[in-house]
Amino acid sequence: MENKKISLLFVCLGNICRSPSAEAIMKHIVKKHGTEDTFIIDSAGLYGGHAGSLPDQRMRTHAARRGYQLLHKARSVTTNDFSEYDLIIAMDDGNYANLQSIAPTVEARNKVVRMADYLEHYQNDTIPDPYYGGADGFENVLNLLE
Ligand code: 4NP
Repeated sequence: MENKKISLLFVCLGNICRSPSAEAIMKHIVKKHGTEDTFIIDSAGLYGGHAGSLPDQRMRTHAARRGYQLLHKARSVTTNDFSEYDLIIAMDDGNYANLQSIAPTVEARNKVVRMADYLEHYQNDTIPDPYYGGADGFENVLNLLE
């Protein structure tokens, strides 16, 4: 019998900067470890205004310099995601609160975690939104997520 895969959904606001980067970095890591068959990894956003779009060009450029091709097409979080995924990983406290509020059950709410709680080399309590800032913000996102 095949073992059940571990499914991870990274979530930010627009699904065009932070969460598609987290998705690409995590896919890169599991591939490096030869464990890609063990995981299902995706990303989604709480704001649907960029649905169908590739990641922000600035994020793609910064990520490409580190060897990550960001090819995810933005999509909104759905109710179904709360049953499909084992962990739903929020980039900031706003995302976390929003996900908790739309989680359909207590079990679903308990799947929502904060990305920053997994940081090992940084003290940040959030993955800051880079959208309205400069190049430093995009580099910071990648540093934290890696
Ligand atoms: P993300 O960044 O949540 O990391 O994808 C943003 C992208 C778009 C917007 C905000 C944040 N926006 O307001 O359109």
